[in-house]
Amino acid sequence: VNKGHGVKGLAELGLKTLPHQYIQPPQERFDSSNEEPNQDSIPVIDMSNWDDLNVAKAICDAASKWGFFQIVNHGVPIHVLDDVKDATRKFFALPAEEKLKFSKEKSVTNSIRFGTSFTPEAEKALEWKDYLSLFFVSDDEAETLWPSVCRNQALEYIKSSELVVKKLLKILMNGLNVKEVDEAKESKLMGSKRINLNYYPKCPNPELTVGVGRHSDVSTLTILLQDEIGGLYVRNMATMKWIHVPPVSGSLVINVGDALQIISNGKYKSVEHRVSANGSSNRISVPIFVNPRPSDVIGPLQELVDSGEKPLYKNVVYSDYVKHFFRKAHDGKATIDFAK
Ligand code: SIN
Ligand code: FE2
Repeated sequence: VNKGHGVKGLAELGLKTLPHQYIQPPQERFDSSNEEPNQDSIPVIDMSNWDDLNVAKAICDAASKWGFFQIVNHGVPIHVLDDVKDATRKFFALPAEEKLKFSKEKSVTNSIRFGTSFTPEAEKALEWKDYLSLFFVSDDEAETLWPSVCRNQALEYIKSSELVVKKLLKILMNGLNVKEVDEAKESKLMGSKRINLNYYPKCPNPELTVGVGRHSDVSTLTILLQDEIGGLYVRNMATMKWIHVPPVSGSLVINVGDALQIISNGKYKSVEHRVSANGSSNRISVPIFVNPRPSDVIGPLQELVDSGEKPLYKNVVYSDYVKHFFRKAHDGKATIDFAK
C-alpha cells in the first residue's frame, strides 16, 4: 500500500483506522492516569540576563532536576524560528518522489536521511512520525546536497543558535566547577551537530499509538523548536509520571542528552521523553542535536574524578555509542547502559 511515503502518505489515503503495525502495546500508549496533574512544571527561563547568577542557578538546577527547561529571550531571532518551521512544512509538502530522493535507498550521502518511525527494522510497533535528518558536515555539503526548500532556513537556525548553546554549556560547566571550556572540551560538548525536521501527521487512532516512543537523546544538549500543537511529555523522575511541555510562543525547549549525563558524571540528567499522536492536527518540531565529535572519547570529566568522585560511566567512543542507539528500537533510558 505504502511504498515508503511515510505516515504522511498513509494519512493522506484518508484512513479511518490505524494500520495494525502502528498499534503500540498498552503500556506504551498515552493514558491520562500516568500524567502529572498540573501543579509542577518544567521551568521557563528568561535568558536576557544570562550572566546573572540566578539565571545560571535556574539552568543548572533544571538540568539536574528535570533534564528539561524552556528558554525565552534566547537571542535566536523569532523570524529564524518561523522560517525553519515554514521550511519544514514545505519539505513535507513536496511530492513523495522528491522526498524519497533523500531516503536510505536513494540518498547520495549517509549524512542526509528522509525516513519514517525510528528504526522500523528493529521495532515491534512503528511510530507515527516522518522525518528528515541532516547531519551537519560542512557549509559546502549543506549548500549543495541539502533539499533546497529548507537548506538556508535550517543552516540559519543552526548558526543563530550557536551563541546560546555556548552560553548554556558554559553555565552548565561552571555548575560543575569547571571554569574554563578549552578546545578539547568544546569538541566533546559541541563538536558536531544534527538537525531533524519532524512531521507528525494527524492520526486516525491517536490513543493506540505514539508519535515518538520513550527514549532519551544521545546528544550533549538538544535545542528543540516545537509548533503550537503540543504533545511532548517528559518523565518526572520524582514521581515517574509524565509531564507535558506546553508550547510557549518564541521559546526553545532545551534538554540534556546522554553524552552530557555521562560527561557530568550523572549530575545533569538525560531524561526519558515521548510524543503523543494527535487526532486533529499535524504537528512539526525541529530539534538540533548538539553532540560530541563522532571520534571523541567521552566519559566523566577528569576534573570530577580528580575531585574524588567515583566515575559512574566508562569511557566510550561517541560513534560507538550512537551506533548502539540506532541499532535498537526506542527503549527508554537503556542506551546509557552501554557506558556502564
Ligand atoms: C523527540 O524527542 O524525538 C521529538 C521531540 C518532539 O517532537 O517534540
Ligand atoms: Fe528526543
